[in-house]
Amino acid sequence: ADLEARIKSALKTQDAVLVAHYYTDPDIQRLAEETGGCVADSLEMARFGNQHPASTVVVAGVRFMGETAKILNPEKRVLMPTLEATCSLDVGCPEDEFSEFCDQHPDRTVVVYANTSAAVKARADWVVTSSCAQAIVEDLDARGEKILWAPDKHLGHYVQKTTGADMLLWDGSCIVHEEFKYRGLEDLKALYPDAAVLVHPESPDAVVEMADVVGSTSQLIHAVQTLPNEKFIVATDNGIFYKMQQLAPNKTLIEAPTAGNGATCRSCAHCPWMAMNGLENLLHVLEQGDQEVHVGPALRERALKPLQRMLDFTA
Ligand code: MLT
Repeated sequence: ADLEARIKSALKTQDAVLVAHYYTDPDIQRLAEETGGCVADSLEMARFGNQHPASTVVVAGVRFMGETAKILNPEKRVLMPTLEATCSLDVGCPEDEFSEFCDQHPDRTVVVYANTSAAVKARADWVVTSSCAQAIVEDLDARGEKILWAPDKHLGHYVQKTTGADMLLWDGSCIVHEEFKYRGLEDLKALYPDAAVLVHPESPDAVVEMADVVGSTSQLIHAVQTLPNEKFIVATDNGIFYKMQQLAPNKTLIEAPTAGNGATCRSCAHCPWMAMNGLENLLHVLEQGDQEVHVGPALRERALKPLQRMLDFTA
């Protein structure tokens, strides 16, 4: 509690606002809410940080989210509890290899997931998040454009399947969602036949096929609030349970299994990098001002274009 009080006071003295992702730990999400910040997906985090008047934005999430905040707000100071918090999708899509891939397919419109470095975004025509990927790809497809997609192959496959667009996919995946298992989910579904199955599209195709609802974090949260079911089996990072339970306190949430046998295996679906955001390092960065995100002006200018397109498209 003392730690939290010190963070609250430091946020005030530093003219800082805390923006947290749904996948961070509950302590962080609660603090963001209590201090007038926000808890959201990457698209809404970007929008919130952009519109908020504070001169410092503290991004509790993973590295690309801090970079996005900086690209959109070069005049603001952007801090993160730790700059070490990366993302397997980002790591699995290095700039040079990706650039080569793009060079090999100059006829394709380059669409990248927000979970990428600023350098990869700078090579793209469009940035998307899982909440707007389908709508943007649908629009590009309607205009006859062929797409080069990176980095998440599962989300890419799902968008390809639902839109019918011509998409060439980079071979990347999220280490958390990749672990959800079809067999375990089938066993769990047998135990809870009335539960609705909610799946994030970064999960493997066989798991997505079992879903009652496939969607981004905000779409899955909405499903828990609006579907009549009392129980939900949820296949995404379990950090999301905080917000789901807050908005739908009477619903029962069950973690989708990450191993073969849903009856005995408990899920451990939590991103190790999201989990690096804690109260101690949050206070530390507010007091010391280190762990500041920097994006050079030339890179920023190129990465801003596809990001701004996404924000304008979803406005
Ligand atoms: C994000 O955009 O924050 C991530 O893709 C997770 C999601 O919202 O589905």
